[in-house]
Amino acid sequence: MLFYRQYFENLKNMIANQEFSQRRHQLMSMMPNNSIAILSAPPEKSRNRDVLYPYRQDSDFFYLTGFLEPEAVIILIPGRESQQYFMFCRDRNTEREVWDGRRAGPEGARLNYSADDAFPIEKIGEILPRLLEGRGKIYYSIGKNCSFDSFLTEQLEAKRGSAGSTSSPKDPFTNLDGLLHEMRLFKSIAEQQIMQKAASISARAHCRAMKKCIPGIYEYQLQAEIEYEFVMAGAASPAYSTIVGGGVNGCILHYVENNSKLKDGDLVLIDAGCELQNYAADITRTFPVNGKYTEEQKLIYDIVLEAQVAGIAACSSNKTWDQPHEISVKVITQGLLDLGILKGELSELIETKKYSDFYMHRAGHWLGMDVHDVGDYKVNEEWRLFQPGMVTTVEPGIYISPDNINVDKRWRGIGIRIEDDVLVTSNGPNVLSSDAPKTTQEIETFMASK
Ligand code: GLY
Ligand code: MN
Ligand code: MN
Repeated sequence: MLFYRQYFENLKNMIANQEFSQRRHQLMSMMPNNSIAILSAPPEKSRNRDVLYPYRQDSDFFYLTGFLEPEAVIILIPGRESQQYFMFCRDRNTEREVWDGRRAGPEGARLNYSADDAFPIEKIGEILPRLLEGRGKIYYSIGKNCSFDSFLTEQLEAKRGSAGSTSSPKDPFTNLDGLLHEMRLFKSIAEQQIMQKAASISARAHCRAMKKCIPGIYEYQLQAEIEYEFVMAGAASPAYSTIVGGGVNGCILHYVENNSKLKDGDLVLIDAGCELQNYAADITRTFPVNGKYTEEQKLIYDIVLEAQVAGIAACSSNKTWDQPHEISVKVITQGLLDLGILKGELSELIETKKYSDFYMHRAGHWLGMDVHDVGDYKVNEEWRLFQPGMVTTVEPGIYISPDNINVDKRWRGIGIRIEDDVLVTSNGPNVLSSDAPKTTQEIETFMASK
């Protein structure tokens, strides 16, 4: 029972109403006084007849509201004494709630989500024109919800027509992403705590997979072990499709079939992270199916590890976002040169990107509510500096295609990636996913202890 009890607290919402309110106010403080911001929840999507995909709230919408239901729209109107935050949402409906689940309704939106006022979504056509009065600048990110895009455009055209005005510009919208995504890039203490939990649950899932792995089982069976840990911990879903690639499948970056048998002597690459309270973890480990790395596997692994450790060390305040990538390229190219897999001069191999036959992706990406999270990587066309509160992955890899005839046979088909989630702090990088064993020695010892 104790084992189960430790998981329950993960379900407690860790972001207070107060924080959602602060975010809205921060956003409004950056908007001019004649402006308005409009955000809509995305529509539900059909998976197949009568079955919907599990609903996932839009990250921007969630960031400002904490509201999880579809068919909702929020309006932010800065510069008013009161009544700055409006929500339109599904009305309460006893019969529909029996079929589809609970709804907050406008009253719930006011009471539990701090809306200054709230209305049934059907009323939006009637009420929105009044809210738009005198608002010359409309922040709205077009292209995320086609039907609402059309609704809003029609509303504005109707308003223009009725006012007899020709002054509205052709594209009346200002994209909200610039302001909002810069805010999302810096994680609050509460967000950091959720991300730490998401990373710890995911690290435990990788440990479980290492323990359960034996030659002859199927990739999807390790996927099941991974996702068992996620669901058991209250993280309802993976943050992205779990990748379990045995042997040569580890050389396919986004391999998700997960339907091959794991062979004695092969590696298995697992890239998996849970989503907890809408925040993602993103971890990769590559371990031997039988618990022991071959000499070739270990040699390649140690290059990737050295690149990854050096990359993590570069995630600190005085460094630019590009530096972990740069350093990983240098370490990997030198390592491949030392093993004779690449031939030539280090600087030239780097300049001509010869390493990209084996390392064809970047060393990381921002991590947050979206696994490839929002936030600019460059400011004024220059790579930006790391700052405390940012979270990035560091995930170099070497993938030697089984078909690469330019490489000695003994290396072919080896695919290795090592990925951790790193919070930048004023004391340097904090690896959120450090609970997952990482060196070959740690992994072999861990796997032997089953
Ligand atoms: N799991 C997706 C990525 O590593 O970017
Ligand atoms: Mn990943
Ligand atoms: Mn990643």
